[in-house]
Amino acid sequence: MRISGTGAIVTGAASGMGRATATHLARAGARVALLDINAAGVREVAAAIGGTPVPCDLGDSAATAAAMEQAIAAVGPARIVISCAGIGRLEPVVGPAAVPFEQLAQTIRVNLTGTLHVLQLAASALLGQPALEDGERGVMIMVASGAAFDGPIAGAAYTASKGGIASMTLSLARELGDAGIRVNTISPGAFDTAMVRGLPAEMLATVPSITPFPKRMGVPEEFAALARHICENRFLNGAVIRLDGAQRMPYFSAVP
Ligand SMILES: NC(=O)c1ccc[n+]([C@@H]2O[C@H](COP(=O)([O-])OP(=O)(O)OC[C@H]3O[C@@H](n4cnc5c(N)ncnc54)[C@H](O)[C@@H]3O)[C@@H](O)[C@H]2O)c1
Repeated sequence: MRISGTGAIVTGAASGMGRATATHLARAGARVALLDINAAGVREVAAAIGGTPVPCDLGDSAATAAAMEQAIAAVGPARIVISCAGIGRLEPVVGPAAVPFEQLAQTIRVNLTGTLHVLQLAASALLGQPALEDGERGVMIMVASGAAFDGPIAGAAYTASKGGIASMTLSLARELGDAGIRVNTISPGAFDTAMVRGLPAEMLATVPSITPFPKRMGVPEEFAALARHICENRFLNGAVIRLDGAQRMPYFSAVP
């Protein structure tokens, strides 16, 4: 998919990897709609890159449908959709620090159900658009996590949401293949964003020792660069790609 002149939607675009990706796409000439629950943040990023801000809660299906309609109207056919919005927090299931069930459900609703809903709305809208070179209509990128494979303590809801994204990738790529829509997932390791800065210091201190090379967190621009490559490489489809310096999460007993 050529980026220049193409309509793109990036969710979670007020911060971190979504922000970096929206910025990267806009600089490469895409018309970008930025979705995020952080209304002030998304307006600020959109103003900085010349995109369209669409504040919305992707955990609310009616709000998501309205936001996607607004986004598609703003950028024209949205042939690139990158779903970065997510909630990442430690949520013990039992014990004194246990969170209410509704909070666990919200993590799954925003991260997994919200991602699927955005993809459904975007792909449905693309079916009515003409195919481009090679029969391609669009490219969708979802975001999993290393936690999908090495689940941390107090990460059950987050892990379930990210595991769900990884496992639905091939299913969606197969379903949308005849329409010329590719579906891929990036599975990041620890990246230096607001989400990770909220985790316990003991957890973050282990990053160098659990990351073979380079011994650091990823930076959002490295994520944006891979997202761009996925957009441009038409043979890349149905893949879950780890972007993590070969990092694997260890067993932690020190978290709540
Ligand atoms: N940072 C990491 O180490 C890491 C690792 C693996 C996976 N991820 C995933 O990468 C994605 C991007 O995370 P990030 O690290 O850039 O975090 P971030 O916190 O910087 O950005 C996440 C964005 O999602 C938005 N968001 C949260 N709930 C929302 C909702 N209900 N509706 C709309 N927007 C909502 C937030 O406002 C925020 O702007 C997330 O899906 C996250 O789970 C992050």
